[in-house]
Amino acid sequence: MAIRLTDINESKLEQLQGKVMGDVAGSLGLLIAYIGDKLDLYSALAEISPATSQELADSTGMDERYLREWLSANAAAGYVNYDPTAGKFSLSPEQAVIFAAEGHPACMQGFFQAVMSAYVDEPKLTEVFRSGKGLPWSDHSPCLFCGTERFFRPMYAMNLVDAWIPSLEGVREKLQAGAKVADIGCGHGSSTILMAKAFPNSTFHGFDFHEPSIEHARERARAEGVASNTIFEVVTAKEYPGKNYDLVTMFDALHDMGDPVGAAKHIANTLSDSGTFMLVEPFAGDKLEENLHPLGQIYYSFSTMVCVPASKSQEVGLGLGAQAGQKRLTEVLNAGGFSQVRRAATTPTNLVLEAKL
Ligand SMILES: C[S@@+](CC[C@H](N)C(=O)[O-])C[C@H]1O[C@@H](n2cnc3c(N)ncnc32)[C@H](O)[C@@H]1O
Repeated sequence: MAIRLTDINESKLEQLQGKVMGDVAGSLGLLIAYIGDKLDLYSALAEISPATSQELADSTGMDERYLREWLSANAAAGYVNYDPTAGKFSLSPEQAVIFAAEGHPACMQGFFQAVMSAYVDEPKLTEVFRSGKGLPWSDHSPCLFCGTERFFRPMYAMNLVDAWIPSLEGVREKLQAGAKVADIGCGHGSSTILMAKAFPNSTFHGFDFHEPSIEHARERARAEGVASNTIFEVVTAKEYPGKNYDLVTMFDALHDMGDPVGAAKHIANTLSDSGTFMLVEPFAGDKLEENLHPLGQIYYSFSTMVCVPASKSQEVGLGLGAQAGQKRLTEVLNAGGFSQVRRAATTPTNLVLEAKL
């Protein structure tokens, strides 16, 4: 049935307009915050807060007129506070955490960076709708890789060693004693390095097919003093070497793969008989209608622009999507040869599944 514009309900229209205006403001706020991050303006303001735009210009060496407008946009967004009597801008502790506390789980700058990559890559993303082709992970702008690491790492730091590993049956004890672990689709190696630090008796193999990410992971491992019990290699999830792993992990990567069933089969073949596969995926309900909320919007949007194109660029091209949910993920794991799958842990953003042969 064609839509008749004469049927408009004015109050519903106003409500939707208000929502969309908020989204427009948010999309510009994100860009304003991203620029501030690139130029280290929030950290600079945090140091001299409260400050006039001239004082911020003096301390950063940047142009006062641009800074005044940038600070005004931030004040209008509620990202910084403004004192009209003194004409000074300041950051509250909460604002400082969100915009300037690198490594804090509540710092959003990595998230903003990942969103920015989608804006930068928009022409390529629009084109794949027409062609039906995929867009490889490696063809995105580099701020996607940095943003992913920056945003995910603090969450892994908070949950991985203290909550997720203990939620798996007998795994922590094996890691303490000395185990062989593979981390598939490890990206910049945040998860691999965190585990290697916590369990020095174990050996951690980080595998990813994106060469620049693996190079970065190697550098990080050296810098963080875990080069002796980490090995990073450029290889696909269906071809990585080794047998008899006690634990295989995969963080936010299965849904990016073209052939997640093929990857699960290879993982099953490389695990020891009593081994565990820990799969970490974005949290989602099993049905679309369960995911219709702001977090679902964020995940489906990233999935449209990054995850489904990444999957479609690889063989099979299943396009699992970032909101697959436990039921669909379990089907994939069962098809890969895992007979026992259970939910081991959750956070508001992650689903942790334990799979055994
Ligand atoms: C969203 S990132 C997650 C990276 C990392 N696990 C983390 O949590 O920070 C997905 C990763 O999966 C990797 N990936 C996708 N398909 C792959 C495949 N078929 N084989 C190996 N790695 C793959 C990408 O290169 C990328 O590093």
